[in-house]
Amino acid sequence: MIVREALLQWNIWWRETGWREKWIEREKYVDESMRFLGKKIIVLYGVRRAGKTFIMFQIIRKLLERKVDPKKIVYINLDDERYPREKGALDNILDTYYELTGVDRNFYVFIDEIQRLAEWGGYLRRFTDLRKDVKVVISGSSTGLLEPEIASRLSGRRIDIQVWPFSFREFLKARNIVVSDDPFLQFGGEQGVIQHYLNEYMQYGSFPEVVLEDSVIGKLRYLHSYLSDILHRDIAERHNVNVRKLRDLAKFILENIGNQVRPSKLASYLDLSKPTIYDYLSYLEEAFLIFLVEPFGYGKEKIIGLKKIYSIDTGLRNALSKTSRDIGRQAENLIFLHLRKFTDEVYYYRKNNIEIDFLANINKKLYAIESKWEIEEKEEKINKIRNIAKKLGAKLIVVTKNRIGNGKIPLWLFLLTKPKDWVRYAKA
Ligand SMILES: Nc1ncnc2c1ncn2[C@@H]1O[C@H](COP(=O)(O)OP(=O)(O)OP(=O)(O)O)[C@@H](O)[C@H]1O
Ligand SMILES: [Mg+2]
Repeated sequence: MIVREALLQWNIWWRETGWREKWIEREKYVDESMRFLGKKIIVLYGVRRAGKTFIMFQIIRKLLERKVDPKKIVYINLDDERYPREKGALDNILDTYYELTGVDRNFYVFIDEIQRLAEWGGYLRRFTDLRKDVKVVISGSSTGLLEPEIASRLSGRRIDIQVWPFSFREFLKARNIVVSDDPFLQFGGEQGVIQHYLNEYMQYGSFPEVVLEDSVIGKLRYLHSYLSDILHRDIAERHNVNVRKLRDLAKFILENIGNQVRPSKLASYLDLSKPTIYDYLSYLEEAFLIFLVEPFGYGKEKIIGLKKIYSIDTGLRNALSKTSRDIGRQAENLIFLHLRKFTDEVYYYRKNNIEIDFLANINKKLYAIESKWEIEEKEEKINKIRNIAKKLGAKLIVVTKNRIGNGKIPLWLFLLTKPKDWVRYAKA
């Protein structure tokens, strides 16, 4: 009886024909999901509060627009305590769905927070074996979903789509600014407005709720609660950790974005063993709160090299940081996040005291990216870096505050464009 109530409440489209929500459309995710829907299980994963659930609803909206019978779409949010979660419980929930709608084949099922269902990997495998007519979209908090053991049960049948907080383009959309095909033509002549928005994007970050919240106190409250949720719900519920020390570590890391981590230093600072530091770092990484970037190179260098750290969000970093705002580092962090959306293979380079901030392998092409926000580098030094990039087979692109051409591109333009555009603009 309770399951029935829950289903009726959540599946608004069963009763409301004109169901709509006010939201920022995230076409990129919806389109990609639509392309694979029915062919693979769609897995939406990513940091907490990035917008996974909303994207599910946008996919549902899209199906309705394509005239799919509303009764053939069922959304099950396993965070809702009214649903059972023991092994096989989904069969019972679906039975109730069949009973309520009269539909029991060729339907779309959206299962949110699927990791709450006991042994869901095996269950879903059997389910999709038996029910080739059912199209499945699942999402959940980052950590559980990608565990190798579970992933392997569904290997080949799933397409994993990483959901990020708002891109700069999506952020602008939330500010009612539509970016045209040539952002440089649109904003390049007079950069004041776009710099203003970039500044805001840097300061408070990109989590949808934070972007859409007007009050600063409201924004800060969200950001603090996100960290707390990630530490408690995503990490402490699954791993045996000292939450206070984990929090201290997270704060330390967030304050030191762009720097190398030295596990031995952290170990003494937090009074934890080195292996524990490694464990904690990997938990923070699994929750998508932080990223550890390896040095570019092969074999031994890579293993020995220290990793550099970046944060999922500059707003989160600023809300927690004791240090004053360091725009250069935040710019670097934004560059990293943008690169990561094109490839998993992002490294940094350091040899003989020469460093290149990023080397990114995108579609088999190597890009060397140097972040230079404020400091006016001597051309000499940039040429040195450029030569190294050349030897590595990469073109150097310097991301600055507002310079364009001669190998440089402004950060706002970089964030609004794709790799091949970076090269084109920087050359111009
Ligand atoms: N496209 C959007 N347009 C407007 N607001 C959004 C959008 N996406 C997310 N939000 C806001 O951000 C909040 C978090 O989004 P959502 O619940 O979809 O995230 P999630 O990734 O499912 O988070 P969790 O991991 O905690 O379940 C929403 O409650 C909503 O306020
Ligand atoms: Mg959700």
